[in-house]
Amino acid sequence: MKDIWIIANWKSNKTIQESIEWVDALGPKIEHRPNIKVVVCPTLAAVSEVRKAVQVGHYPLLVGVQNISPFGVGAYTGEQPAELLKGLVDVTLLGHSERRQNFQEDDEMIESKVSQAVAADITPVVCVPGKDTPVPSGVSVIAYEPIFAIGSGTPDTPENANEVATVLKEKYDGVQVLYGGSVKPDNVKAFLSQESIDGVLVGGASLDPETFLELVQATYSL
Ligand code: PGA
Repeated sequence: MKDIWIIANWKSNKTIQESIEWVDALGPKIEHRPNIKVVVCPTLAAVSEVRKAVQVGHYPLLVGVQNISPFGVGAYTGEQPAELLKGLVDVTLLGHSERRQNFQEDDEMIESKVSQAVAADITPVVCVPGKDTPVPSGVSVIAYEPIFAIGSGTPDTPENANEVATVLKEKYDGVQVLYGGSVKPDNVKAFLSQESIDGVLVGGASLDPETFLELVQATYSL
């Protein structure tokens, strides 16, 4: 059985209280499976409370952030440096298309963020809209997220996603490739059954704990 990632990206949703409630609703129901990494990426405000809830409940959940600063500690008002998240989070999403579009993130900035993450022992998951977007060295997890599929209810086909993932694996030795864009409980298996796809990045379908649980459980029979 291959190692898979299932990553919940809440984007700018959920209060701290709602975040804790989600963790306590889902946590006790997911199984400890060594080959499945389930990651939750709440808002920055909720991260430490989410981490605490996971630890107290001994839930098999990893915790991530959705972005980090391209700089280290210092005079960078409003930014969250990776170094200060060390030990608190396991993963950071980087270069999501919503950040590329709304916050003018470019490849150079994403490269700086990757270095910061790696130095803090945080796994960067770099999102790319297609196979031609450059991925900095040191990245071991890439998420292929075609823009048309994000939040649209129209996912890419599993076959095409697999083709893109295969190209990315040829270009970047040893990477794992996830697919994201309108992943739901009823299509997650079709993506994960593809040879080159090692996980999914889930936005909308991660917000409701019952729906997300259904999605996680669907992978148990792979
Ligand atoms: P979606 O979002 O699942 O709502 O399409 C995916 C993402 O943006 O990571």
